[in-house]
Amino acid sequence: MHPFAAHLLNWFEAAKRPLPWREKPDPYRIWLSEIILQQTRVDQGLAFYYRFIENFPTVHDLAAAEEEKVLKLWQGLGYYARARNLLKAARQVVQDHQGVFPGSAKALEELSGVGPYTAAAIASIAYQEAVPVVDGNVLRVMSRVQDYREPVNKPGGQKTIRAAMAAYLPESRPGDYNQAVMELGALVCAPHNPNCPECPVNAFCAAFAAGSAKMLPVKEKRTKVRHVFYDYAVFVHEDQIILRFRAEKGIWSKLYDFPCIETELDAPVEERGAELLKTFYAEGQLREVMGPITHVLSHRRITARFFIFDLDAPLQIKNTLHQAVAEADLHTYPVPRLVEKFLEQYRAEDLFH
Ligand code: ADE
Repeated sequence: MHPFAAHLLNWFEAAKRPLPWREKPDPYRIWLSEIILQQTRVDQGLAFYYRFIENFPTVHDLAAAEEEKVLKLWQGLGYYARARNLLKAARQVVQDHQGVFPGSAKALEELSGVGPYTAAAIASIAYQEAVPVVDGNVLRVMSRVQDYREPVNKPGGQKTIRAAMAAYLPESRPGDYNQAVMELGALVCAPHNPNCPECPVNAFCAAFAAGSAKMLPVKEKRTKVRHVFYDYAVFVHEDQIILRFRAEKGIWSKLYDFPCIETELDAPVEERGAELLKTFYAEGQLREVMGPITHVLSHRRITARFFIFDLDAPLQIKNTLHQAVAEADLHTYPVPRLVEKFLEQYRAEDLFH
C-alpha cells in the first residue's frame, strides 16, 4: 500500500464520523445516502436519510411508492430530478434485477441517476471494487496533493484527478480509501480554511509544500445564469387557496406552486397586481405583496414576489392544472424550495386568514 493511503486510512479509522450507512455494506443504503449527499452536507443529509429509510426500509418499498410521496420526502433538498431518478432506479432494480443491485460499477451506471461517481462509490464501499471516486471533495483534496493548477471542472482536470486517486488506491480497502479522501475534504482539507498543520497526509501534499492550498482547486467560471422574475398570485378565499400543478417537463415537473406570470423584466406592483387578476379572471383585493425572495438554480436566478389576493368569491377555475386546496392540506403537496421558503416565512404571519 502507498504510504499516502496508509496514513490516510489510519486517520480515517480514528476520525471518521459514525454514519448510519457505514454500519453495513448494504448497496441500497449506500446508494440512497450518496444520492442525498449530492444535494446537501452530511449533517443536514442525515435527517433526510432517516426519513427515507423509515418510509422505505428496502428497495422494494421504495419501488412501490407513489412519485408524489417521494417528492414530498425529498422536499427541502431541491433539484427534484434526483428524487424522480431515485424512484426510477429503485423500480429498475426491482423489475430488471429481482431486487438486487447490479454487482459492478459498470452495471450500476445503467440505473437512472447513477453516474460514474455514484457507481464507483457504491461498488467500492459495498463490493470492495477497486474503482476511484471523483466528487467535489476529491477534486479539492487531490488537486492540492498534486498542486494541480489547471481548472478541475474541465475534462482534462477530471482525468488528472482520477488518475491521482487511482495511483494511491489500495486494492485491499478501496471503499475506505474513497471515503477517507472525501472525509478528509469535509473535516480537514476544507475549501477556505484547510487545517494543514493537522493533516495526516501533509507530508505527501505538494500544495502544503508550496503554500498554495488555499488557492486550489482552480475552477473555470460557469456561463452566466439567466435572471427571471416570477410574480405569483396567491388567491385566498376563506380557508381555500389556489395551487397550480406543474405538469410540464423541467426541474419542477410534478410539483405544485401558484398561478404565475413569468418575465425577464421587473414590473411595478400596481401594474402586475392588476395583470394577475385579469389573467386569471379573478376579482378581489390585493392585500399585500411578499418578497422579493431570491432563489438561485444552476441555470437561472429567480426573483419571486407573492401577491396575496383576498377574493370576493371562490375562484372560477378555468385551467385544469389549477385547483382549490384547503390551507390545512397545503403541507401535503410537494412544492419547490422557493415556495417552501415563502410558506415558512409567511405562515408565521397567519397569511390565510
Ligand atoms: N460525501 C459523499 N459521500 C461520502 C462518503 N461516503 N463519505 C464521506 N463523505 C461523503
